[in-house]
Amino acid sequence: MNHASEAALTDRVLAQYRNTPDPRLRQILSFLITHLHGFARETGLTFAEWQQGIAFLTRVGQMCTGDRQEFILLSDVLGLSMLVDTIDHRNADGASESTILGPFFVEDAPDLPIDAAMDAGQSGVPLRVTIDVKGGEGQPLPDAEVIVWHSDNDGLYDIQHEAGSGYFLRGRFRTDAQGCLRFWTITPPPYPIPDDGPVGDLLGLAGRHPWRPAHVHFLIAAEQHRTLVTHLFIGGGDYLDSDVVFGVKQALVVDLERHAAGRAPDGRDCPQGWNSLSYSFCLAPSA
Ligand code: BEZ
Ligand code: FE
Repeated sequence: MNHASEAALTDRVLAQYRNTPDPRLRQILSFLITHLHGFARETGLTFAEWQQGIAFLTRVGQMCTGDRQEFILLSDVLGLSMLVDTIDHRNADGASESTILGPFFVEDAPDLPIDAAMDAGQSGVPLRVTIDVKGGEGQPLPDAEVIVWHSDNDGLYDIQHEAGSGYFLRGRFRTDAQGCLRFWTITPPPYPIPDDGPVGDLLGLAGRHPWRPAHVHFLIAAEQHRTLVTHLFIGGGDYLDSDVVFGVKQALVVDLERHAAGRAPDGRDCPQGWNSLSYSFCLAPSA
């Protein structure tokens, strides 16, 4: 087939989708076909390579279960998840930076009061987190819902442990009348994303590591404001420049304050020392 007939084939395919009734779906299909065909033409994709690609995507699908979403992981390591997040926040001027949700969010995190410790029974250096939540005019947002989650000292989330382990290192808080919130947890380490499937194989073939820098996840929701999904990254740690899923934004990197062994101001005994961090989040008004 010469180049002219390759282009003619693309046109014939596009023509068959031109009457898709839903206008947005029609637009998406048209761009998808145009770019997929362009990709095959420009790379000179062979039949054997196409078969390899189909076999890879089949493995990705077969790896998916209720607890494991390998397609999202693939989107993450290709930078597509972060690109979509960035496009989705084109008009969120003044709001804190967002980043990806990741696969370890759960809807039913336990309700915890302000000043609670999320780290019962967990090893690790205690971390005191203080945040406040503001609206677009800088006004405090009382009663905002703040869902927090992060990995344990071994780099695993509670839901990666065997069934029945229960939830830990996660909680659902509400800000006080000043839009503030404090809680105790442990200082999380960097961790590798699940790399025992086809996405891990792809990382290996590309010579990429599977690590994420140390971070704490936040989902913050307040009435009449756009929900913010983000992380705080711990400054000075490894992988900040090479996050496997491209989630790091400089504005989300915070330096820990390190404190010597002893009692924290609220009386908690910290014989190995403790860390603290504080951050001010700003939510955009909803459209
Ligand atoms: C996470 O931060 O929890 C995460 C994000 C993307 C892929 C895997 C894990
Ligand atoms: Fe994470």
